[in-house]
Amino acid sequence: MTDTLTKGAANQAGAHINKDAYAEAKDFLPLNGVDHVEFWVGNSKQAAHYFRALWGFTPVAYAGLETGVRDRSSYVMRQNDITIVLTGALSPDGEIAEHVHRHGDGVKDIAFSVDDATSSWRETTARGARSVIEPVELDGGEDGVLRRSAVGAYGEVRHSFIDRRDYHGVFAPGYRKIKKPARAAGGLSLLEIDHCVGNVELGDMNKFVDYYRDVFGFAQLIHYDDKVIHTEYSALMSKVMTNGNGRIKFPINEPASGKKKSQIQEFLDYYLDNGTQHIALRTEDIVATVRQLRENGVEFLGMPHAYYETLADRVGDVGVPIATLEELGIEADRDEEGYLLQIFTRPIQDRPTFFFEIIERHGSRGFGVGNFKALFEAIEIEQARRGNL
Ligand code: FE2
Repeated sequence: MTDTLTKGAANQAGAHINKDAYAEAKDFLPLNGVDHVEFWVGNSKQAAHYFRALWGFTPVAYAGLETGVRDRSSYVMRQNDITIVLTGALSPDGEIAEHVHRHGDGVKDIAFSVDDATSSWRETTARGARSVIEPVELDGGEDGVLRRSAVGAYGEVRHSFIDRRDYHGVFAPGYRKIKKPARAAGGLSLLEIDHCVGNVELGDMNKFVDYYRDVFGFAQLIHYDDKVIHTEYSALMSKVMTNGNGRIKFPINEPASGKKKSQIQEFLDYYLDNGTQHIALRTEDIVATVRQLRENGVEFLGMPHAYYETLADRVGDVGVPIATLEELGIEADRDEEGYLLQIFTRPIQDRPTFFFEIIERHGSRGFGVGNFKALFEAIEIEQARRGNL
């Protein structure tokens, strides 16, 4: 097992790639990309400062008591094509407070940009999606009209459909532009969301694979079986779903039985539901970006020296000296299409649940399967520290 995962040519063992996935996917909606991701958090004001001062996001819009919103406070954070919304409750009652009470901070909404929020809702609900928000027109006065609807995904995560064609405001009606934002951390170049990963209970993976295929017209891009995602102690299975234009990629993980507790099971034990495990942010300069993030105080998973000793044999030239990769804890992987560089943060909130990935792609459209084993062993060291292995 170890050998097949750490030696170059056998990289893809246990990874079943569907080369026809993009053609198979049916973009009947279509989805233009991820419009934004909304986190429900315990304290949106402080979370906004975390994303600004450590991650380089600029606060661009705000909604709350001062804008006539009585039950919540939201900050819209932006960096290049990434928009993150941080929302907290203003009272102990209601869905936001209950969500945070049960799950801790976490992803509530992975919102899609669409041309028509009404037809998106109609097409998906007709195919079996659970309606969460019926199509609504939000009147933004001079800024125009924003059209929105939403359907359910795994756990309490939802997918909003956002149609901005007739809206010209900063984010949405009810939000006001932040005119003089505090300065965001510099030196960071996070460009767009690369993929969003869901963790689901044992036995639920295929259910949600079917859901994304039937309801959204996605196709299965890759299946990693528990032979490839496997350490001495734990295992997991993963299937990657994509839409036709490849802008939306959703790996879905479920735990598999091992001698000890899978990291997916640890997530489920603390999130108490299916939920979003990590979001990968794409950069074209992972070295400078990670160096800056580390300086700003972002914590990353550590990789052992042994990983870097065999890396050059496995991946060849990846444009960055191996010593630099090791200094920063960046991992590399190669497949027949090219290579990628990636790194994972530690969980960003109190519970060992959600974390970020930073990824730089050079041809490879994969997810770093050659790193899975070393990565999961690194996670297991941290699980053991938490008393959860
Ligand atoms: Fe990932």
